[in-house]
Amino acid sequence: MAGPKKLFIKTYGCQMNVYDSERMSEALSTRGYEQTDAMDQADMILLNTCHIREKAAEKVYSELGRLRPLKDGNPDLKIGVAGCVAQAEGEEIVRRQPLVDFVVGPQSYDRLPAMLDQLDRGEIALETEFPVADKFDKLPARSRPSRGPSAFLTVQEGCDKFCAFCVVPYTRGAEFSRPTERVLGEARELVDRGVREITLLGQNVNAYRGHPGGLSGLIWELSEIDGLDRIRFTTSHPNDMDDALIDAHGTCEKLMPYLHLPVQSGSDQILKAMNRKHTAQGYIALIRRIRAARPDILLSGDFIVGFPGETDEDFEATMSLVRTVRYGQAYSFKYSARPGTPAAEKESVPDDISSERLQRLQALLTEQQRAIQDSMVGREVKVLFEKTGRLEGQLIGKSEYLHAVHADAPADNIGQIRTVRIVESVRNSLKGELVG
Ligand code: SAH
Ligand code: SF4
Ligand code: F3S
Repeated sequence: MAGPKKLFIKTYGCQMNVYDSERMSEALSTRGYEQTDAMDQADMILLNTCHIREKAAEKVYSELGRLRPLKDGNPDLKIGVAGCVAQAEGEEIVRRQPLVDFVVGPQSYDRLPAMLDQLDRGEIALETEFPVADKFDKLPARSRPSRGPSAFLTVQEGCDKFCAFCVVPYTRGAEFSRPTERVLGEARELVDRGVREITLLGQNVNAYRGHPGGLSGLIWELSEIDGLDRIRFTTSHPNDMDDALIDAHGTCEKLMPYLHLPVQSGSDQILKAMNRKHTAQGYIALIRRIRAARPDILLSGDFIVGFPGETDEDFEATMSLVRTVRYGQAYSFKYSARPGTPAAEKESVPDDISSERLQRLQALLTEQQRAIQDSMVGREVKVLFEKTGRLEGQLIGKSEYLHAVHADAPADNIGQIRTVRIVESVRNSLKGELVG
């Protein structure tokens, strides 16, 4: 009998794609595929793609171009495109790059096993429908090998917000929440496999409606699971931060003190043009309420500079909001016009102006991140160790604030939460010593 077929997956974009790649790999394993890190030995190459900015989408085509020699060397090699580029461009991908054998949109992963049959018949397979059901419903149950202590779990998909710049509502479809029972079942399984920290994922995870109590209702239920010690969630929209969720940050011990709450801009005029449906002051007031519930919470945000119509004054309002909030982590981007979105029709800000704004914003955000990271020195934090570090005897893990922490510790601490005293703040991580 032939050995297992080799599957190579390359994942772009957000954590939801990371989770989807894991689920696809598990589903394909039931059809004899085993994941490999060596692309040149693969029988199937799957690119799980992102369409959020122009560069992200273009990367996919250049990567596909580089696969030509592999396909020439192995005519049986199957090449697939999944994720948000697959959804946005569909058949166009095969037209532009004929070496692609299958295209599968993010809502159609349950169709993968059937698509394999099509491929076996020598057909090209295309699936980019938006079925209403839970796309994970029909995938085989997650396989059971033990795994690392931190895992993603998608609980909500899609977005109904239609921010004027964003492709997600078109690539991921309408908001859909997985029922609580399914989420709890999957969480229990993950814990059985060695997981101690779960990050709940959704494009708008705090719009979760699978529980009568919303996302905080789900979090409280998850917090009852023995062996699950840490709960996180991402990404949230400011307008869906309800009182119960804010409250949970103050009262639920397992909910970690970290919150990614994108604002995009500090100018009311731009926020309006972006269709964000909140003001800068509204966001700042919300941050105050969150900090009142959990004073040490570390805040993270996303920003776009150079949105059509952004003036110097608008940009200064963003800088001012950042100074008021103080972020411990942040992601900032130059606006990228995306085909099919309302903002793409508008006149763009000249690139040199956007670039300069981005530089100034990033300098400020980096300064804030550094200051908050440096302020950890001398403090004791709880670290969930995840893996060995680059240096002999060193382990790496995350603090409750999601800072990467490395410390000398025996390997049997992997999967354990230990108290660590921070002794130094280095470039992108903290150095600590085990306490006791
Ligand atoms: N659901 C998440 C965002 C997902 S996209 C949320 O609402 O926060 C991640 C980030 O990419 C966004 O927060 C935004 O800052 C950025 N982004 C989205 N579309 C963009 C575009 N057209 N150009 C530049 N950045 C964009
Ligand atoms: Fe995109 Fe806005 Fe939805 Fe976030 S909330 S996914 S930025 S449309
Ligand atoms: Fe990208 Fe799709 Fe995620 S566009 S950011 S992979 S939802």
